[in-house]
Formats: sequence, structure tokens, C-alpha cells
Amino acid sequence: MVRLGVLVSGHGTNLQSIIDAIESRRISAEIRVVVSNNPGAYALERARRHGIPVEVVEGGSYASREEYDRVLVELLRRYGVELVVLAGFMRILSRVMISAFPMRIMNIHPALLPSFPGLDVQKKALEYGVKFSGCTVHFVDEGVDTGPIIIQAVVPVRDDDTVESLRQRILKEEHRIYPQAIQLFAEGRLVVKGRRVFVKGDAGDVACGGVLENPSVTVFDGEDG
Ligand code: GRF
Repeated sequence: MVRLGVLVSGHGTNLQSIIDAIESRRISAEIRVVVSNNPGAYALERARRHGIPVEVVEGGSYASREEYDRVLVELLRRYGVELVVLAGFMRILSRVMISAFPMRIMNIHPALLPSFPGLDVQKKALEYGVKFSGCTVHFVDEGVDTGPIIIQAVVPVRDDDTVESLRQRILKEEHRIYPQAIQLFAEGRLVVKGRRVFVKGDAGDVACGGVLENPSVTVFDGEDG
């Protein structure tokens, strides 16, 4: 069982997919708190409906990104959060957050990284003319959409796609792979070696495919660790 803090800013369909995965026992996790920088985020309504505590930390009153993140770290620690899940959180995290939760912050991005980092990426993918796009779950480092990749899903781009139709097709895959990545973390199966994230073997390495007591990610620092 891994204790999650989910950070949101908007509609919260990814949050919903995680809630649904937990409630149907497809993943072994508990959402301790949902935090938004936007008090009007519909995601907060979703959390409330499921009895999940919500907190709003608006950006305006903090002098710097670091100062904001210190409040965030304190809040997440107070709720006993082990894994921070960014689900449409529209702020860039500073070193303060990254170093407080090293390889314990995940993000989902609606493109196949390293193609199309940043914003409005479904539009950029269409305009570029790629035949496939998709989504990426990755650990968060100090760059924007640059951290080690955990899972990707590929989605075809159709000739008659609009930004919205492509967005919807990608979202469907987001809702599938984000809970999956969280479950791999909960089972302690993610091994990070440099930029690469390996998933420890299905049967042998994890007793009964069960959930380990101390959810964690193994990080090798050395070159050939
Ligand atoms: C998703 O497309 C996600 O990939 C991106 O922000 C969007 C959030 O959507 N990071 P929602 O709020 O989960 O519906």
C-alpha cells in the first residue's frame, strides 16, 4: 500500500482514473490528500465526492517557486505522502520539491517524450505531422518533462483528427498507464539506473506478485550499478 499525494490544477480525469483503480482494488494505494493551486479545479470536487482530503495552495502569495514548494513539502509530509503524483498540475517544481521526494514524484505527459515537451502538445504533434503520438509516465527531475521514463503508450494519429479527438484518444491511454505505473511503484518493482527505469521481473522477483511492505524505488547511482 503506497500513500499518495495527488497534485492537480484542472479537470482531474487522471485523478479520477486513480481513484477508480483504488476503489476497484486494481492498485494498492491510498490517496492521502489532493492538493491544487487552483481553488476552482474540478478535480477538487472529484476528490471531495470520494471523501479524500483536499488542500488549496495558491501561487500568488509566495515570493518564489522555492517558497511555494517548501509549503507543499511540509503539507505532503504532514499527510504522510510517500509518492507524489502530478495529474495536470500546472506548476514547475523547484529543487526544494525534487530533493524532498527524489524519484518519488511522477508526472504524466500527453506525448511520447522526448518529443513535444511543454504545453499544447497534442496541437504540436498534429501540426508536426507525426503518425503516432501517445503518453509518457516519468519520474520528475529538475527539468521540464525530462525525467526517467517509466511507461509509455502509443496512440495513432488519424488523418481526420482534431486536437480534441487526439487529446481524447491519448487521455484514454493516460488513464490506463498512470495507475499501472503507481502499482509498479507500490510493488517496489521500479529500478532506476541513470536515465533508464527497469521493471523487476513479473513472477520471480516479487513474492506472489504481492505488495511489498515498504514501497520504494531502487536507485543505482553508479555507472554500471
Ligand atoms: C493530461 O493531459 C496530462 O497528461 C497533462 O495534463 C492533463 C491533465 O488532465 N499533464 P486531467 O486534469 O487529468 O483531466
